[in-house]
Amino acid sequence: MYKLSPSLLSCDFTRLGEEVKILEQNNVPYIHIDVMDGVFVPNISIGIPVIECLRKITELTLDVHLMITRPERYIEQFASAGSDIINFHYEACENSAAAIDRIHELGKKAGITIKPKTDWREIIPYLSKADLVLVMSVEPGFGGQGLIKETLDNVRGLAKYKRENHLDFELEIDGGVKTDNLQEVIEAGAEVIVAGSAVFRGDAAENIQKFQKIMENCT
Ligand code: DX5
Ligand code: ZN
Repeated sequence: MYKLSPSLLSCDFTRLGEEVKILEQNNVPYIHIDVMDGVFVPNISIGIPVIECLRKITELTLDVHLMITRPERYIEQFASAGSDIINFHYEACENSAAAIDRIHELGKKAGITIKPKTDWREIIPYLSKADLVLVMSVEPGFGGQGLIKETLDNVRGLAKYKRENHLDFELEIDGGVKTDNLQEVIEAGAEVIVAGSAVFRGDAAENIQKFQKIMENCT
């Protein structure tokens, strides 16, 4: 079963509640929330108060992607805001093992995230602890970019390692996924699919249904 995690970065923030309703009505399991600090990535997006508001209006899994420097400073706050999955960047974190442990102590799922140029082998030490691994398929910071094909090597490497070692982390891909490359990213081994512009540009319900149809055919 593949999961769609629409990225709110491309939604209409003046209608945030309605956008979430559309996701619920279309049986989307996860909502991807991109948090950017203007330091780790050259952009600033949304943060803790918005997650608190989202938590009040939905029970969908809040899949929070922290693109922030030294994410360990804010784990408690993102946990108490209502995040379900806290994804932090391996490149931004001083002690990834400790960050995963802290997220678990707070009763949340921990995701470790890698940028396109990071080799998946660097995070092998954390794979048995992580609930999710998020592979960036664009340079983090902006929605609407094209998928970098080489990043599928990270997906393939992680999928193979997961299989061979009987691990149970979910493998998520983020950036530039559209209906026309969805099958390819699934074949590479992605299980959770983030899509921002491909969901929210145009009719979100129709777009989600197109994604779901392709996902069903891949199972
Ligand atoms: C980019 C974000 C993504 C982004 C995806 O830094 O992490 O989640 O919103 O948007 P699309 O699907 O448009 O590439
Ligand atoms: Zn993201």
